[in-house]
Amino acid sequence: MSIQGKFNPNDMQVLVSPERRQAIDTGALLTGLPISTRDVVADIGCGPGFLTLPLARYLTEGRVHALDIQQEMLDAVQRSLDAEGLTNAAVTLSNENRLPLDDKALDGALLAFVLQEAHDPDALLGEVQRCLNDNGWIAVLEWHKRDMDCGPPVTRRINPETMEAKLLNLGFQIPKRHELNADQYLMVART
Ligand SMILES: C[S@@+](CC[C@H](N)C(=O)[O-])C[C@H]1O[C@@H](n2cnc3c(N)ncnc32)[C@H](O)[C@@H]1O
Repeated sequence: MSIQGKFNPNDMQVLVSPERRQAIDTGALLTGLPISTRDVVADIGCGPGFLTLPLARYLTEGRVHALDIQQEMLDAVQRSLDAEGLTNAAVTLSNENRLPLDDKALDGALLAFVLQEAHDPDALLGEVQRCLNDNGWIAVLEWHKRDMDCGPPVTRRINPETMEAKLLNLGFQIPKRHELNADQYLMVART
């Protein structure tokens, strides 16, 4: 069963499909982040683990918190982690606007295609800020805001200018935008 307005877990295979792996080069994505192999990083709205698995492999001395509000997604990501024998991931059910993490618990946070589904993107970003340490980083991946054959309804999308303004308003610094492909962007900022 899916929660209204959230990605339907029955369709989760789309999120780990070969087409998606072609559209987003996860290796290049990670090496473009200010990430260290010792970091503690949250994958917020992790889904079935498209980025959780590469993160867990990358964080050879660190840890990943895989968080989602849908248990079916967490069950899938745990199965994939177990299948690879990756033990540096904590898979935890999250809440809409409250992360199950202590203040300043994180070095980094990744939010891939989750803010467009969030009931209150600013509240969720504020939570991320609470959980990041003073030298932390945030990476947001989102769809460009225009009509396309694929992806979420255009009304839900957040364009890069609005995303940058949200991050700056919340006190994040030096947001930098990169194009992931023709349809999707990445924005990275510091605490
Ligand atoms: C489009 S999927 C993307 C999944 C994954 N990040 C990826 O790129 O493959 C969005 C995910 O965010 C989750 N989600 C939506 N709102 C959330 C929230 N407020 N907190 C945590 N997870 C949320 C959904 O359950 C869904 O698994």
